Amino acid sequence: MRNAGRSAATILDRLCRMVRPGMSTLEIDEAGGEMMRDFRVKSACKGYRSGNRVFPSFTCLSINDEVVHGIGMPDRILKDGDVLSVDVCIRENGVIGDNCRTIPVGTVSPEIERLLKITEESLYLGISQALHKKRVGDVSQAVQEYVEGAGFAVITNFVGHGVGRTLHEEPQIPNFGNAGTGPQFRKGMAICIEPMVNMKSPQIRMAKDGWTALAVDGMPSAHFEHTLLVDEDKPEILTIPEGEGEADEYINSKLAGLAA
Ligand code: MF3
Ligand code: CO
Repeated sequence: MRNAGRSAATILDRLCRMVRPGMSTLEIDEAGGEMMRDFRVKSACKGYRSGNRVFPSFTCLSINDEVVHGIGMPDRILKDGDVLSVDVCIRENGVIGDNCRTIPVGTVSPEIERLLKITEESLYLGISQALHKKRVGDVSQAVQEYVEGAGFAVITNFVGHGVGRTLHEEPQIPNFGNAGTGPQFRKGMAICIEPMVNMKSPQIRMAKDGWTALAVDGMPSAHFEHTLLVDEDKPEILTIPEGEGEADEYINSKLAGLAA
């Protein structure tokens, strides 16, 4: 899972660095598919089944009010001031690495910048609770309090999850709830924490394509996710790109950057 996490994070990082106004989400998705080939890993999104529907693209690319599970399309062109959520979820040697980031395309308004910063910070706050013998609700409450304290809305229709040989395993990890409740974490458990945050309303609706979730308020939405391993005194983030050093250095530099 360390290898799968590193591959997923490196692909996500490279894709995010490519994003420019004028690109289509299909171009980004195809680049993602090529990187997966180069890394000799498989997309865990393409071919993912829900009911009788099969997810068609290598990655999930969700623009602005698209919350999650957007499909790469030739006619979805990014423009300056948009935000794009890039969700990369792969299988390597039979196990999954899953991670997501929402990035600005060109220059975004200060309020959108704040949405991205608060959502990313809420992810790290949640991660800091994922310790041996703590409970799922400790993560949930940390995320919810921070997001709502900043005046934004946590989405309740989608949750984080256990992860391993399959993408979605027990336990579910909601981004809302009460500390001290829910299943207990154990050293060695692999989980995905993934706050999804709207600006005004937590409500979402399904787009006509049957996959893309849209924010009902029509405003930009943010999503940050890491795969991590529960441990006793600090969690081990698995989705750190190649060359970014140890998990602690990475998380410290992230938090310092976010505080600035
Ligand atoms: N990271 C997403 C999740 O955990 C990946 C979904 S794959 C899709 O739900 F096929 F459903 F898009
Ligand atoms: Co996930």
